Amino acid sequence: MPAATLFLGIETSCDETAAAVVALSADGRAEIRSNAVLSQIEEHAAFGGVVPEIAARAHVEALDGIIRAALADAGATLADIDGVAATAGPGLIGGLIVGLVTARAIAAATGKTLVPVNHLEGHALSPRLIAAIDFPYLLLLVSGGHTQIVAVEGVGRYRRMASTIEDALGEAFDKTAKLLGLPYPGGPALEIAAQTGDSDRFALPRPMKGEARPDFSFSGLKTAVRQAATAIAPLTEQDIADLAASFQKAAADAVADRVARALDRFLAEHPGSKRPTLVIAGGVAANKALRAALEETAAKGGFTLVAPPLALCTDNAAMIAWAGLERFRAGLLPANPFALEARPRWPLDEAAAPLYGAGRKGAKA
Ligand code: KG4
Ligand code: ZN
Repeated sequence: MPAATLFLGIETSCDETAAAVVALSADGRAEIRSNAVLSQIEEHAAFGGVVPEIAARAHVEALDGIIRAALADAGATLADIDGVAATAGPGLIGGLIVGLVTARAIAAATGKTLVPVNHLEGHALSPRLIAAIDFPYLLLLVSGGHTQIVAVEGVGRYRRMASTIEDALGEAFDKTAKLLGLPYPGGPALEIAAQTGDSDRFALPRPMKGEARPDFSFSGLKTAVRQAATAIAPLTEQDIADLAASFQKAAADAVADRVARALDRFLAEHPGSKRPTLVIAGGVAANKALRAALEETAAKGGFTLVAPPLALCTDNAAMIAWAGLERFRAGLLPANPFALEARPRWPLDEAAAPLYGAGRKGAKA
């Protein structure tokens, strides 16, 4: 049997420095040989958010070592690799340049194939790395920088069905956590606080609920939490837990309502779908209340919910290596990959209307 095709992936678009080796066997099976991720959370914690300049410098310092670790974990050398895929956008420009230039240098020095990858395409194709999921399927991407529903029709064929009109969901979690005095990063801290809270104590809005277009909005919800908190200040531990739980429930409800719309629309557009699948990705996919709400929504709509393991939901380089491999296998490579520059903004669906709010400004927007 011919040997597997091996790709090295590099991801530096935000605050994770990551490298991975992924293999595609001759019979079409994917295998993650290594998946090294170095989070910069500690370096940004004091500032309450990602600082682009600090992120870029940290990538410069860490990337060589992370690539070496990924190769060593996979038991491979650069000579064994068939191609190098690196995130070229969207994201923070400094970090993107560090990753892309490194990939270019490796490809130029070794003569291997270079594939600049769209970070969102990495998320979109990541479920196919762990399961035999056929096109088309529906993807809900919920992270600190992105909140989108995308119909994944094929490699390189993505249709954005919905997006946030202002804050990303993770951003709404982070900002709400901050106003409740919870530590950074806010999302996981808010989920923990919510465990001891009463999710029915505060009547919070479900933005966009019932609207025909499946887009998202979270800033009104965040403001409602602020008003409720101001009205009862100073907050006790229990108040904080109740506000966190009420926010989390409202956010999960609002997302589930938007997703339900998209499921209906997807089925109307793909009447032949035998096993319709909804995939979730992005850091907020870790949230158990959200997962439970989506589980119920998917079941009601006749969809199977696929939640990749967390290490593949959050930012990682295995998904970038895999997107490179999918493009390589499909013969969808750019004519001159060395001429492609890093792009801070790079919509997955170039035909879609431009986003007028794309989450956190700069970072991954
Ligand atoms: O995908 P990710 O690691 O990086 C970005 O692309 O942004 O997502 C990070 C986001 C942050 O906003 C973080 O607060 C949120 O995901 N997050 C959570 C949870 N874990 C991470 N939000 C709610 N509940 C969680 N358990
Ligand atoms: Zn991401």
